Amino acid sequence: MAKTHIKLKVNGRERELLVEARMLLIHVLREELALTGPHIGCDTSHCGACTVDMNGKSVKSCTVFAAQASGAEITTIEGLVNADGSLHPLQEAFREHHGLQCGFCTPGMITRAHRLLQENPNPTDAEIRMGISGNLCRCTGYQNIVKAIRAVADTMNPAKEAAE
Ligand code: FES
Ligand code: FES
Repeated sequence: MAKTHIKLKVNGRERELLVEARMLLIHVLREELALTGPHIGCDTSHCGACTVDMNGKSVKSCTVFAAQASGAEITTIEGLVNADGSLHPLQEAFREHHGLQCGFCTPGMITRAHRLLQENPNPTDAEIRMGISGNLCRCTGYQNIVKAIRAVADTMNPAKEAAE
């Protein structure tokens, strides 16, 4: 089958690949680039486990053909870890506030939360819930996920935290 040449910038690193036209971005990330943080949790575009950042927006990477993504800048959960290997503040907050149980949804959830806080650095709890509504979690009941995201938002907005 004919293959298409694509270029991606993934977690700051330029990558070039040959992909079949039918290949989805999630499969390129997981199978070609060994970035197994983004998960596949459904085949209906509902769960959000495959969420990555693409050109500054959250996307479900199971809904994007790799060829469509050519030229894009992509960040996965692996790209959120600090350069020294320490955890991103959202990862720390999810750990501290018990925002995960089995962890299957967590990479997509944190990647989405990261973008949410870029879009709205000072969200209300309702806005957090709306912001992560494309990401399903079967374990936590969401309460502690909201708490974790809230904690990071409060760190980013110390004046508001002090006023409360
Ligand atoms: S794998 Fe469920 S939305 Fe992509
Ligand atoms: S922690 Fe298990 S699905 Fe969210």
